Amino acid sequence: MYLLTKEGDDLAIVFAPEEKLRIGDNLDIDGIVAQVIDIQFADLRGVLEHILRKSLITKSETQEHIQPEVKSIIDSLTDQKLAIAKIRGRLVETIDETEKPKKVFKTGLSEFNISRSKAKIVNLNQQELFDALDLCFPGTCDFAKTLSTDPKSFDVLAERWGINLITGMKGSGKSYAAKRILLKLIERNVLTIVFDLNGEYLNLWKAEENKPNRYSPAFRILKPGLTRATAFESPFLIPLNEISYDDFAKFFNVPEGSSTYQQIFQFWRKNKNIQFDLNDFATFVESVSNEAVKAALVGRIESAKGLGIFGPSNLTTTISDMSNNGGALVINLAQVSSWERGIVVDFILRKLTHMGQSGTIKPISLFLEEAQLYVDQSKMINILTRMRHLGIFPTFITNDPRTLPDEVYSLLDNLIAFMFKNEDELRQLAKSGFIDKKSIDALKHLEKRQCIVVGNLTSNYPIFVQIEPQAGVVMGGETKKLVS
Ligand SMILES: Nc1ncnc2c1ncn2[C@@H]1O[C@H](COP(=O)(O)OP(=O)(O)OP(=O)(O)O)[C@@H](O)[C@H]1O
Ligand SMILES: [Mg+2]
Repeated sequence: MYLLTKEGDDLAIVFAPEEKLRIGDNLDIDGIVAQVIDIQFADLRGVLEHILRKSLITKSETQEHIQPEVKSIIDSLTDQKLAIAKIRGRLVETIDETEKPKKVFKTGLSEFNISRSKAKIVNLNQQELFDALDLCFPGTCDFAKTLSTDPKSFDVLAERWGINLITGMKGSGKSYAAKRILLKLIERNVLTIVFDLNGEYLNLWKAEENKPNRYSPAFRILKPGLTRATAFESPFLIPLNEISYDDFAKFFNVPEGSSTYQQIFQFWRKNKNIQFDLNDFATFVESVSNEAVKAALVGRIESAKGLGIFGPSNLTTTISDMSNNGGALVINLAQVSSWERGIVVDFILRKLTHMGQSGTIKPISLFLEEAQLYVDQSKMINILTRMRHLGIFPTFITNDPRTLPDEVYSLLDNLIAFMFKNEDELRQLAKSGFIDKKSIDALKHLEKRQCIVVGNLTSNYPIFVQIEPQAGVVMGGETKKLVS
């Protein structure tokens, strides 16, 4: 391997066909660490001329006689490849606590004392890189394998999980990775609340043939609108007295300040600090003298009853119990109208804020699949800015990173990005500041299940990995085919 050029942070390295390099490989160039982000043919001037001449000769039926040894040199030159490698930093020799020499990774490069003719370029061993990054994976390390010529196991360390974004094209493997992380968080006794838009987290407690797996005791599934609990799901209910009069009015489109709004306010004020339900509200409405207001309120109460989402609930105790032992509380939002979804999610977010403020829960994780479909931008910003102080850590999972507010990108702890082809989405990801646009462009070359992980999880070094399959769990996520 030879160093050809340096342009900004990009090194162009020429390598022969017998030398193996892959996107994601890390190179040690006399102590400088660079990562391969693209591979091309080495379009050196003489080589181009040679190829052009060869193509013309075939057409003109002229014979070219080159001495065999020269021909083999020219042919192998034609096959030389060019790796574009991004300088990530350097390896610095230090001494660890036990006085042993240790290499640590440092970002930045203030000197560039490299000889083009003499520089020794070697494929940096993944373990050496992980050691230099202080990345150590105790226990079974089965989450992913690095995309390097020498693949190495990589894991998600629960203590490094925080505010996270998992993104990539449709079908690229985002939810699968999220589910694997969810199971890892359960193992570390962390509670995750999942807003499951497509009902694809519902079978994670099962092994093959519908038998419960080892995670099954940790799962609770709640479904809004369910009339009766089944063996697997319980109804999701909101106690009427746990929402404000203003929320009730907003949910049921009662204009602020109207006479109907005033009556709702009166009822809530009268029942302050006591439990009440829709029947109590209906009894109150009977005494309203204005017939038009009465009719408007009766209509609202009927539609609230029809929704089947208001009623007594033990959500507070469920969340606080589960936050002690860890687990997954899956809110099944499939088949729930967007309007109800808004009410349900809003209620849970307010409940979590309240419980976080009163200190009744341990830190919890929140998985939001396609959050833009049920959380408006101002609430997303609230989740990001306020809730993290209360110990609530969101993970956004989306195939369109442009739907998230800029705050997501400025506060992100971890980015897991799968394949994207579209320029707009790639540009949006570069905004995170975690990783430059050119490295993000490498996502175009990834296959399904392959992604780049960067952030706390990787000590901020971008690592290309392929997510490994999960054994013993029904992972779901299969989409229906038009013709099977
Ligand atoms: N690492 C993996 N090992 C085995 N199967 C996988 C892996 N990643 C994804 N799959 C399978 O590929 C399919 C698509 O994956 P997944 O549901 O995670 O995609 P997605 O990116 O979430 O797509 P969408 O944008 O449609 O939600 C699923 O059937 C899933 O089981
Ligand atoms: Mg998905």
